[in-house]
Amino acid sequence: MSELLEKAREYEERKEKAIEETKRPLFHLSPRCGWMNDPNGFSLYKGEYHMFYQYYPYRTEWGPMHWGHAVSKDLLHWQYLPCALAPDSPYDKDGCFSGSAIELEDGRQLLVYTGVLRKQDENGDYYDVQTQCVATGDGVNYVKYGENPVIAGDLLPDGAGKRDFRDPKIWKEQGVYHLVTGNKTEDGDGQILEFVSKDGFHWDYEKTVIKNNCRFGTMWECPDYFPLDDKQILMTSPQDMLPEGLEFHNGNGTLCVIGSVNAEGEYVEENCQAIDYGIDFYAPQTILTEDGRRVMIGWLQNWDNLSIRRDDFPWFGQMSIPREIHIQDGRLIQNPIRELENYYGKCITRKGVLISDSCSLSNIEGRCIDMTVEVRPSQADHMYKKFEIRFADNGKAYSTIEFDPEQNIVKIDRKHSGSRRAIVHQRRCKVSGNQGKIKLRMILDRYSMELFINDGEQAMSMGIFTDINADGICFKAAGELLLDVTMHELKK
Ligand code: FRU
Repeated sequence: MSELLEKAREYEERKEKAIEETKRPLFHLSPRCGWMNDPNGFSLYKGEYHMFYQYYPYRTEWGPMHWGHAVSKDLLHWQYLPCALAPDSPYDKDGCFSGSAIELEDGRQLLVYTGVLRKQDENGDYYDVQTQCVATGDGVNYVKYGENPVIAGDLLPDGAGKRDFRDPKIWKEQGVYHLVTGNKTEDGDGQILEFVSKDGFHWDYEKTVIKNNCRFGTMWECPDYFPLDDKQILMTSPQDMLPEGLEFHNGNGTLCVIGSVNAEGEYVEENCQAIDYGIDFYAPQTILTEDGRRVMIGWLQNWDNLSIRRDDFPWFGQMSIPREIHIQDGRLIQNPIRELENYYGKCITRKGVLISDSCSLSNIEGRCIDMTVEVRPSQADHMYKKFEIRFADNGKAYSTIEFDPEQNIVKIDRKHSGSRRAIVHQRRCKVSGNQGKIKLRMILDRYSMELFINDGEQAMSMGIFTDINADGICFKAAGELLLDVTMHELKK
């Protein structure tokens, strides 16, 4: 083991002990200590789900990337394992960037990641060279391959840039390993490249799966490519997006392309949409569970909003709740994994509550809850003007979900959550309209809120760092409406 890795392992073990359980999310994976970004190597290996993550243990800020590591049997209860990779080799000394994992024929686990090497040009300016590297291990300890990198710039097709070439996602199909990576072309546009290998160590360039053609941002990061419900899905996280209505927002975004593969083996796009319509969601990866469900986890954070944070916490960054995903009528559907039900505590149900101003309901409160609210106009010919759920509320600080039934727009808002930074605190999303009827399912886990609208037609996520004692919930209406609510307390 290298000195760097040994140092990280010693440090995180010590540091983790100093973090009180209640100062972390209950179900959402957070770093063992320090900084976390993208999910990496999300995979099933020897009966357990493995999650690695972009990790800098020593500070709550991004630094030379390591891979943190945790395992779970149900994707909700995570157990930390020692840091898996450190930037300790000549080809990755400036970072082990994002990647993925798979089980090899011989039972070893293969990690595929991007090695980053900072170089200086003739003018003294720094630039990164990114290559794809592998390491093998037993689920805890990993050895980097002696012939790394396994995919370097010489394999790239004409026009592909060598500086932004990262985030390999591996899978196996009919005995052959495939991987896709993000790439920025020499003229600054995003594309996804595919490589193939018989053994996971020797790779050839196969094809360009899809080109951005200057539509969605610039560099396309963290691709995933998989079949789902008779479609072929390409997910990626573009940088530098421009807004498009309420579909895409400025900055780092997420993109789900729904398409199919034609007889010539080419990827044909049918529909493009955002993956999550909230503020904090990026770089998702998916797996197939043992029973065949496609489950996605993203980083519950956005690069442009890093100052939504608590400076008194020794960790930064968390993963989203695992989401079961489907394609229905050409659109992505996502819902929290069903295993969440195993953590249900007390359940409170109220039906047909008439709301005309503001009201709280007894025992509807908490910061670790799974709550579904359905509203409808109280009379068919009398549309209400606005519905609001106020949560994480202590009378002073609060966050909201609002629904405008005339425009069919849902807004999430953390402006009053206690943040003192001038960053994005609100986001709106267009939803399918149904005469004032809407179903809102919110998962609160201490420092986040994830909203699933109309049985998963849209998801909106955001981090909130309001004092944990702010656990009030109330409902408000402009006009008159009827509300059904079911709240499950979540506990471990
Ligand atoms: C996405 C990303 C990846 C990269 C990693 C570095 O959030 O920029 O493209 O591999 O983070 O930490």
